[in-house]
Amino acid sequence: MVTQGVGAKMLTALKKKFDQVVSVEEMDSGDAENLRLLDRHDLGITFTKIRCWTLTQYSKCVFLDADTMLISNADELFDREEFSAAPDAGWPDCFNSGVFVLKPSLETYSAILKHAADTGSFDGGDQGLLNTYFSDWATKDISKHLPFIYNMVASASYSYLPAYKKFGQNVKIIHFIGATKPWLVGFDSRGEPLVGNTESHTKSHLQLWWQIFSTEVKPLLVEHCEGGQTDYPFLRVEVGSNYSSNPPAPAAPPADSRGDWEKGSPDFTGTAAFNNILKKMDETLSAEK
Ligand code: GLC
Ligand code: MN
Repeated sequence: MVTQGVGAKMLTALKKKFDQVVSVEEMDSGDAENLRLLDRHDLGITFTKIRCWTLTQYSKCVFLDADTMLISNADELFDREEFSAAPDAGWPDCFNSGVFVLKPSLETYSAILKHAADTGSFDGGDQGLLNTYFSDWATKDISKHLPFIYNMVASASYSYLPAYKKFGQNVKIIHFIGATKPWLVGFDSRGEPLVGNTESHTKSHLQLWWQIFSTEVKPLLVEHCEGGQTDYPFLRVEVGSNYSSNPPAPAAPPADSRGDWEKGSPDFTGTAAFNNILKKMDETLSAEK
């Protein structure tokens, strides 16, 4: 789903990668009072998400926030029923609305809108609204509780590091919750995030995001930005600008495979080494010229 805010070039790039790109109108809660509670005035616009119930060309959908990163196939989510979601790490009796399973229906859509007009949203965004609409989620049917591996908070998992150590290798979807999104983080010439004192796995998740962005997304956007990269400030970020002065990439045969990537454990010293990724990117870009 895209809104008017997505520019023409970005739209072209999205249409190249996705089977369907559906335009929807923005919807804003305009609820300044409740948005102030999280100090996140940017979240009113997340009411737009509710439009996913209008996608009646599909019998079932899995909604993913744009700040989630899928690191392994998760098609089994389609076996779940509406409304399935994972607990919110900050308040586990609420679900987090960054990942959920829904059944599009104009009836449900209207009922949620009516609920919004009657009751409003306690966080000013979609999560507060949906949690009071699907209010029996916490207690009624455990099969509608998605395991945390489908919506693991990238930054808060430090709060239960032992669980991360035990279950972290099963994680399928990472959610970069909070105001500091990966696209706002600085990265050094080796692709390492400049985030100071953060858990090392949080850094790896950011690094993986950046690697996917650099190899899969950026080349596509550059391709659609003839005449300069002025439309998207993040394209101007010179990540790896001095990588050529780094020691050459290890000559040893790569130890990792696509499977390792999908398991969320690419070998950052092998093919996934940042130098190698930049090299590949350069090759791809010069081949396209
Ligand atoms: C939380 C959720 C996000 C939702 C927002 C607004 O940040 O992670 O998915 O859009 O709240 O309710
Ligand atoms: Mn989110």
